[in-house]
Amino acid sequence: MNIINDPQEMRRCADHLRAEGKTIGLVPTMGALHAGHMSLVHAALRENDVAVVSIFVNPTQFAPHEDFGKYPRTFQSDIEQLKAAGVSYVYAPSAESMYPEDFVTYVEIGKVTEGLCGGSRPQFFRGVATVVMKLFHAVKPHRAYFGQKDVQQCAVIKRMVRDMDMGIDIIILPVVREPDGLAMSSRNAYLSPEDRRQALAISRALFEAGERMCGGERDSTELIRGVRECMAALQIDYVSLVDAESMQEVCRIEGKVALAAAAVLPTARLIDNIIYDPVENRVF
Ligand code: PAF
Repeated sequence: MNIINDPQEMRRCADHLRAEGKTIGLVPTMGALHAGHMSLVHAALRENDVAVVSIFVNPTQFAPHEDFGKYPRTFQSDIEQLKAAGVSYVYAPSAESMYPEDFVTYVEIGKVTEGLCGGSRPQFFRGVATVVMKLFHAVKPHRAYFGQKDVQQCAVIKRMVRDMDMGIDIIILPVVREPDGLAMSSRNAYLSPEDRRQALAISRALFEAGERMCGGERDSTELIRGVRECMAALQIDYVSLVDAESMQEVCRIEGKVALAAAAVLPTARLIDNIIYDPVENRVF
């Protein structure tokens, strides 16, 4: 396995692979890999000649009061998992190489970043878009893989790639869940047993709303009321029904929508969502 730590070296390697006519699939991660990440890795391996997995806990997407310092870092076991899966390139740049002291350039994306997580974490998408742009420039992927769990992040990256004519296919794969429904997340590692139990209210609330949508409910206020009721024991950050592409709130379901929720538990802030397509009358 090749572990590359330097952006210049990564670019040289990507140029070499492209010159050989190889397609590159990138899975950007912050490490602490779980089955959700691995579903992206397996797809990247299947659909490209070369899969590159990046591991970088990106400081610019955390506010000073957030969990950058305690974010789980499990580099050795991540590498073992990736080796076992057959990944031959890991890009793990150092913070200094990504953000030298005089770094001043950031990527800002309008509108689509405004509500949901962008509302409660105002610095978040600027950091995500900046680091993903840098990863794309270094790895030069044909395709990049993201999980639907971060539904707004997916919409933001898609918009950035479209608006900046980057010509990269953004592939979104379904949320991977624990058997009881909890969406997999590296932050689940923070949960106390009591919070782990309470956290189930989020997915339950969304699934119940999904059933109502499939049963014909189209009214946003009614659906959000139901979700809030199911999550009443939690400190709710937001519950929003938004257009699945623009991330703008909708009053009634007329096209594909995302129903997204975030809650702040004593040991972790968790997010989850479902996507509903009225044409297929199906929840993803
Ligand atoms: O989803 C994540 O793990 C991160 O936000 C990403 C896309 C790797 C950027 O740091």
